[in-house]
Amino acid sequence: MRLVKYLARAGVASRRRAEIIISEGRVRVNGTVADKPQIIVGNDDEITVDGKPITGFEEKVYVLLNKPAGYISTTRDTHNRPTVTDLVSDVEARLYPVGRLDADTSGVLLLTNDGELACRLMHPRYNVKKVYQARVSGLVKSEALEQIRSGLVIDGEKTAPAGVRNLKTVSNKDTLLEISLTEGKKRQVKLMCAAVGHRVRALRRVSFAGMTTANLPRGSYRHLDRSEIESLYRMVGLKA
Ligand code: URA
Repeated sequence: MRLVKYLARAGVASRRRAEIIISEGRVRVNGTVADKPQIIVGNDDEITVDGKPITGFEEKVYVLLNKPAGYISTTRDTHNRPTVTDLVSDVEARLYPVGRLDADTSGVLLLTNDGELACRLMHPRYNVKKVYQARVSGLVKSEALEQIRSGLVIDGEKTAPAGVRNLKTVSNKDTLLEISLTEGKKRQVKLMCAAVGHRVRALRRVSFAGMTTANLPRGSYRHLDRSEIESLYRMVGLKA
């Protein structure tokens, strides 16, 4: 099996992330740094990541976190800032976030060691829906909403059509918007709002793939139940 697939199956990271980890020289096969994701490995090979041996295939774990602002969505940080995995540190499995929320964004974040599922949930081809509430500066005109709806050019690429609703005016000077996306470009909501002249003052993801933080206090998490996992699998064309 290719090294990148092995790492994803073993729950180390999604395939995309595993490629990065390999390119960073953090993976060794039988003591030698493996710098190509496509090399073939088997059960007899000794594989380590950051010096820690990868011992076969972990049980799959799926947790839904109500992320508070102030945590970064990576598994480790070179500057010792708090990460979302600190909030699930009592889970034995090596979990990593499915996609990223900015440090100052709060709300629904799925973490898992199921690399194949994570990879598909992040891929725009599967149209997984993410819903955000954004408090933005100023009163938003209907033309701006229409521009967001039909797609905007950000960093030279057109965004997919998005759902957007004006929920309410806040303190007579800001607007609370609900924005639904099926893709996950970096800082997408903030860049889309900036492109139509509004700064995002606060951002919360209220739903991911239909799951919300209902009954989940900020900073805490819960394990998904069987039917939720099966529904995610179906959503991205995998057999549970
Ligand atoms: N869009 C953003 O701008 N930030 C996030 O954290 C998520 C979506």
